[in-house]
Amino acid sequence: MIAIVLFGKPGAGKGTQAEFLKEKYNLTHISTGDIFRFNIKNETELGKKAQEFINKGELVPDEITINMLKAEVEKNMDKAGFLFDGFPRTIPQADALDAFLKSINLEITATVGLEANDDILVARILERGKTSGRADDQDEAKIRTRYEEYNEKTSPLIEYYKQQNKYYAVDGIGTIAEITERLSNVIDKL
Ligand code: AP5
Repeated sequence: MIAIVLFGKPGAGKGTQAEFLKEKYNLTHISTGDIFRFNIKNETELGKKAQEFINKGELVPDEITINMLKAEVEKNMDKAGFLFDGFPRTIPQADALDAFLKSINLEITATVGLEANDDILVARILERGKTSGRADDQDEAKIRTRYEEYNEKTSPLIEYYKQQNKYYAVDGIGTIAEITERLSNVIDKL
């Protein structure tokens, strides 16, 4: 089995690209953001805990997120591997993921980072916010908080995976099809 981390700032195109890659490589797509939103919509206990953080643009605490991720992996061992989208987002999450995958005889194959500048990404999110209904897409202050969270807590993961020779940067600007091809070129070589 392979385990790919699809990495990038808010709005980088992780969810968009995951839709194509999961089909092409027969992977289970695990988006922690999607799982949280599903739980918020269905008013579960997990959703109630996550909502206050997500609505402010802050990260949900590690313990909640890590436990949710592990449960999701254990439920989905039937495909060729995993495509993690939006996880890990902190060093403790990455450490927990490494330890957990090791316990089931897996390891991260690669982290593929979609790179693009903030102005383009904020414009994409504001555009999506018109129709997405996502509370964290609605105003620039919340979007700014998401970028601050990324810069402070998530960006150190690039160095974390570089040190393991597992980080592959991909230009995230272009048409959706062009970017899928760039990502596929990386994955095909693994
Ligand atoms: P999450 O759902 O992961 O949101 P995000 O990282 O902010 O990313 P987005 O969903 O905004 O963007 P994306 O990269 O998927 O881009 P997309 O494909 O949609 O997390 C939401 C929240 O949940 C977090 O803030 C946090 O509170 C919580 N959370 C989640 N995971 C967590 C974790 N591990 N730990 C703690 N908390 C966690 O594309 C964006 C837009 O651009 C779309 O409209 C799309 O149509 C458009 N687009 C895509 N590609 C292109 C292109 N090539 N050209 C033009 N437009 C494009």
